[in-house]
Amino acid sequence: MVCRTLGVFALAALAAVALEVGCAPVSPFGEGFDVQGHRGTRARRPENTLPSFAEAMCIGVTTVELDVGVSKDGVVVVRHGRGLHPEITRGPDGRFIPAERVLISALTLAELRRFDVGRVRPGSRYAMGFPEVVPIDGTRIPTLEETIALVDPSRSGVRLNIETKISPEKPADTLPPDAFADAVIAVLRKTGALKYATLQSFDWRTLARAKAVAPEIPRVHLSHQAEANGALERRQTGAPPWFAGHDYDGSLPKLIASLEGAVWSPLYRDLDRESLREAQTLGLLVVPWTVNEPRDMDRLIEWGVDGLITDYPGRLNDVLRARGLPVPPAVAVEGAAGRSARCPPGGTAEVSN
Ligand code: G3P
Ligand code: CA
Repeated sequence: MVCRTLGVFALAALAAVALEVGCAPVSPFGEGFDVQGHRGTRARRPENTLPSFAEAMCIGVTTVELDVGVSKDGVVVVRHGRGLHPEITRGPDGRFIPAERVLISALTLAELRRFDVGRVRPGSRYAMGFPEVVPIDGTRIPTLEETIALVDPSRSGVRLNIETKISPEKPADTLPPDAFADAVIAVLRKTGALKYATLQSFDWRTLARAKAVAPEIPRVHLSHQAEANGALERRQTGAPPWFAGHDYDGSLPKLIASLEGAVWSPLYRDLDRESLREAQTLGLLVVPWTVNEPRDMDRLIEWGVDGLITDYPGRLNDVLRARGLPVPPAVAVEGAAGRSARCPPGGTAEVSN
């Protein structure tokens, strides 16, 4: 898959280019279109939780996307952002936490487990954006290890796309990038999940570390060109801190290919056909985030993207079906001890937590 565009041009000169840019022989996502469930399925279940991953698998995904941080006592936990989100986090008193930031890195796993992350604050911006989230009170922040046990990629065939939530602009918020990447890779090695995972980040320093210590894990370079996050304006050049000190000459595909990345994941609105073609010609897979409207999904599939990250994997599967394309099978999960799941018609996973 990675080399398919180059394969069309079976010329010695282009083959040499492919070698130079590190064209990988095998797609990290296997054959076919990559249906990635964003934070499990953020639109249907409390994000980045075991019920959300189970639900995504019941709907049918090839990959679950998730975000990770590292607790004060060194445990890799699944959570978006460097701090707990006040619109989806309640304290032991049952109240949503105040807006002041509570850093994941400042709390031990035991302390993080006291929070309930199974409900969206009514009336919040988050609730308005995702009104169909089914609350599951009592849901706790999972560890990466528990998530791998639930997804069980060697049995289910479902992969993990793991994002390191770290910022070069907020060094005090997290472990340094090398230690952060090492912690994630240690879990992947311990669980045998390294060959079923990709590592993604906007902060490419963690990807550089992964390349040095675990080059076998495919690296996904995230980009966000037009908005905040310390990312870049479309035509900005130089070495943005998010790019691990690498100079940027205006072509993200060229830069990512030179770093031997496997995948470019741009914000979907940043992508145009020309950049897509350039990236694929350089041997990159292109998997935009986070695409929730069927018309955008359909357009990007028409353009030839290699996969999509979505809060609504069911919608994406409907779009694929309408095009006569295969969709991932529903997978019922038998999770970590004490958890069970089933996939009733309609794709509703029920996971005790
Ligand atoms: O996988 C890419 C996407 O998840 C990045 O954005 O903020 O949802 O983690 P975010
Ligand atoms: Ca993410």
